Amino acid sequence: MGKISKNGLDASKTDIAFIAQHAELAEQFTGLLELTQIYNSAIKEISTKLEILNDQFKIKHSHNPIRYIESRVKSPRSIIEKCRRKNIELNPADVVENVFDIAGIRVICCYIDDIYSVADMLLSQNDITLIRKKDYIKSPKENGYRSLHLVIRIPIFLADRVEMVPAEIQIRTVAMDFWASLEHQLRYKSKSGYITEGISRELKECAEDSAELDLRMQDIYRRLNSQI
Ligand code: GTP
Ligand code: MG
Repeated sequence: MGKISKNGLDASKTDIAFIAQHAELAEQFTGLLELTQIYNSAIKEISTKLEILNDQFKIKHSHNPIRYIESRVKSPRSIIEKCRRKNIELNPADVVENVFDIAGIRVICCYIDDIYSVADMLLSQNDITLIRKKDYIKSPKENGYRSLHLVIRIPIFLADRVEMVPAEIQIRTVAMDFWASLEHQLRYKSKSGYITEGISRELKECAEDSAELDLRMQDIYRRLNSQI
């Protein structure tokens, strides 16, 4: 998407159109844009940590636990929409305290065991504080969604201060990611955002089939590894 520079900061074209329609939010919008730059730094720090862990794990266990990493910083527009939905005041202090997924990182792993190895390695680092953990692998959501969600806090060293920045990390296998991406797309595609009971059931069955596949692949990996 094309970027437009506003006050030296980058805002997307849709964001600019959004401010044009909601002039009363222009001030908060600029504040949020500044805030999101700090979250960008958190993503850089965490991504580097994950890359280092991935390289080191490979030396010890002869495979990379991480296939790839995706990340995004929530746009000011999405932050505003989320705050409205959750009745959160639109000022930086309240936003920082209450919205944990402004910095979002998705880590796609090869096997289920890798998910827990990556999470343990990351959480054992002294500068990382765990705020919240949701294990949707051990307890999948009603619709079949599976992933390990961590909300952490990481210090970001700025010119004049240190900010403790929260970030949401979703860790999942390739199969879990395949299901979640398509389920999201299908839900988004249905005009009302509503999916019939029959389709929900079928999607849940797909989630269970792919979870079964994950377990079989994990088992094959363990068996091969024990032969070496
Ligand atoms: P919100 O951020 O307000 O949704 O609340 P929360 O952070 O408590 O929610 P949660 O930790 O359960 O997960 C939020 C994120 O996980 C979403 O933004 C999605 O990226 C992902 N997620 C959660 N549930 C589903 C699901 O059923 N399907 C898909 N495709 N993604 C999901
Ligand atoms: Mg969230």
